[in-house]
Amino acid sequence: MKDSYVLVTGGTGFIGSFTALELLMNGYKVVVIDNLTNSSVESLNRIKKLANLKEDIPFFKVDFLDIDALENLFNSYKFYAVVHTAALKSVGESVQKPLLYYENNLCGTINLLKVMKTHNVKNIVFSSSATVYKQNLEGNRLVESDPLGCVNPYGRSKLFTENMITDVADSEPGWACVLLRYFNPTGAHPSGEMGEDPRKVPSNLVPYVSQVAVGKLEKVHVFGTDYNTTDGTGVRDYIHILDLAKAHVLALEKILVVSSSNKSSVFTYNLGTGTGYSVLQIINAMSESSGRKIPHVFDPRRKGDVDTVICNPSLAEKELGFKAKYGLKEMCDDLWKWQSCNPNGYQ
Ligand code: WQD
Repeated sequence: MKDSYVLVTGGTGFIGSFTALELLMNGYKVVVIDNLTNSSVESLNRIKKLANLKEDIPFFKVDFLDIDALENLFNSYKFYAVVHTAALKSVGESVQKPLLYYENNLCGTINLLKVMKTHNVKNIVFSSSATVYKQNLEGNRLVESDPLGCVNPYGRSKLFTENMITDVADSEPGWACVLLRYFNPTGAHPSGEMGEDPRKVPSNLVPYVSQVAVGKLEKVHVFGTDYNTTDGTGVRDYIHILDLAKAHVLALEKILVVSSSNKSSVFTYNLGTGTGYSVLQIINAMSESSGRKIPHVFDPRRKGDVDTVICNPSLAEKELGFKAKYGLKEMCDDLWKWQSCNPNGYQ
């Protein structure tokens, strides 16, 4: 296995770059593809520096809608597995442009699975999302067997992709698949050298708050104060990006164990901490970490949002040996170190 490569799709993006780094630190050989619509090749230099590599990381600007480009790539490298993080991921944008999301996230993955199948690469770790769950309003901790159901095209594209991967695995032997349902990834590398660096104004709370803290944006808009939560603002399960990246290595180790068996297998795990924080708690925590006041105003609820989304992380702990190590303070301290050293990102 170690003489072949792991392909990381979306590997210059936030999740993909940290996952590529963690794989490299654990002795894997990595190839990165990305279409660079929401990231920069600068990530590769950051990964190379943090992984203390002498050689450049093999990178190819590939859009997975271009099946020929994928085919050429698989003809050039022997892949052991694919970590598939590439996707469009804005909930709001997906409501405005559903066909863009279905074409990119679904057709792109169909191309990837086709080429994997042709080349007998049947190990995949897929970046799914907590959005696939029916948004239960009771705020109990979601488990993997909870009802699924999406309220936006982005979430549906993730759920459809889970189903596609499962159907392919069910159709023939030899597939080993791990579907990772991310809750709310955040934080940055503690060195301050690498972090989330979206090209557009962030739609997610934490990068938005950190850009207000550094003065790049004017004020935080708190979407809704009448939720059934401790302070009326939305509660989510934030997980440090370092923890999230580590889980991908554990997922590959799980694949290594099962891939020798002939029958196909699909495993699904929540990736979160099991602890929820409200919007106001996030603002206060970032204010603590940055030593800055963070101006904010109260706006109406954002369409599609619910009170509380937190996970029960015990299945990943039991079957992957994964347990989140970092808490909110580390997430905000590390994020501030990155943001304050790179106020305008490294675009
Ligand atoms: C968090 C909380 C908002 C922005 C989404 C996707 C999910 C995953 C993570 C990709 C909510 C509030 C937000 C702002 C605010 N993405 N908020 N002001 O919606 O939980 O999850 O991103 O995989 O799949 O669904 O994350 O950061 O957008 O919102 O008040 O400017 O912050 O109402 O309560 P969300 P978020």
